[in-house]
Amino acid sequence: MRIPFLHSRPRDYSLEPLAGKDADAVALIHHEDFVRPWSGGEFSDLLSQNTVFGYAAREVGRGKAPPVGFVLARLVAGEGEILTVAVARTHRRQGLGWRLMDAVLRELHGQRADALFLEVDEMNVAAIALYRRLGFIQVGKRPGYYKTGDAGTSSALVMRRDLR
Ligand SMILES: CC(C)(COP(=O)(O)OP(=O)(O)OC[C@H]1O[C@@H](n2cnc3c(N)ncnc32)[C@H](O)[C@@H]1OP(=O)(O)O)[C@@H](O)C(=O)NCCC(=O)NCCS
Repeated sequence: MRIPFLHSRPRDYSLEPLAGKDADAVALIHHEDFVRPWSGGEFSDLLSQNTVFGYAAREVGRGKAPPVGFVLARLVAGEGEILTVAVARTHRRQGLGWRLMDAVLRELHGQRADALFLEVDEMNVAAIALYRRLGFIQVGKRPGYYKTGDAGTSSALVMRRDLR
C-alpha cells in the first residue's frame, strides 16, 4: 500500500530588495487579503519614490519565481512607516512575516531612524500578534478607519516601535 507523504521538507526562503519588476506579483498577494487591493501600477509608483523601499521573499531553488511575501516601507525625516506587508496564504506561519519586518527594522536602524510606525486593523489578530512580538506598542487609535466587507467599519490601531 502506498503511504501518503504527509510531511514535506521545511521551505527555505531568501529575502532581497523589492524592485519595480515585482509590482504585479506583489499586487496579486495584496489582493488575497485587502478590501481595497492596490494595483501593480500603484506599487510601481510607490517603488519609484526614493523614500520608499521594501523586501521580497522568494522560495529558494525556484529560480526567478515570483515573491511569496513582501513588505513596503517609507522613511521620511527619521521616521519609518510600514505601508503594507503580506505573505501569500500558502506560505504563512513559517516566519516570513517576522523576517520581512525584521529586515525593515535593520535597514532603519542602519539609517539611524528614530522609530517605525504602522496602522493595523484592530480585528487583524495575526498582524497584531506579529507586531507585538517585534516590540511594537499601541500609541493611538483611529475609530472607523477601515471599511469592512459587510459595509461596516473597524478601527485602526496606530503602533510604534522605538529604534533608539
Ligand atoms: C500578518 C502576516 C504578514 C504574518 O505573516 P506570517 O509569515 O504568517 O507570520 P510569521 O510566520 O512570521 O509569524 C510570526 C509570529 O506572528 C504571530 N502570528 C502570525 N500569524 C498569526 C496568527 N494567524 N494568529 C496568531 N498569531 C500569529 C505569531 O506570534 C507568530 O509566531 P509563531 O508562528 O512562532 O507563533 C500574514 O498573516 C498576512 O499576510 N496577513 C494578511 C495581510 C495583513 O494582514 N497584513 C498586515 C496589514 S497591517
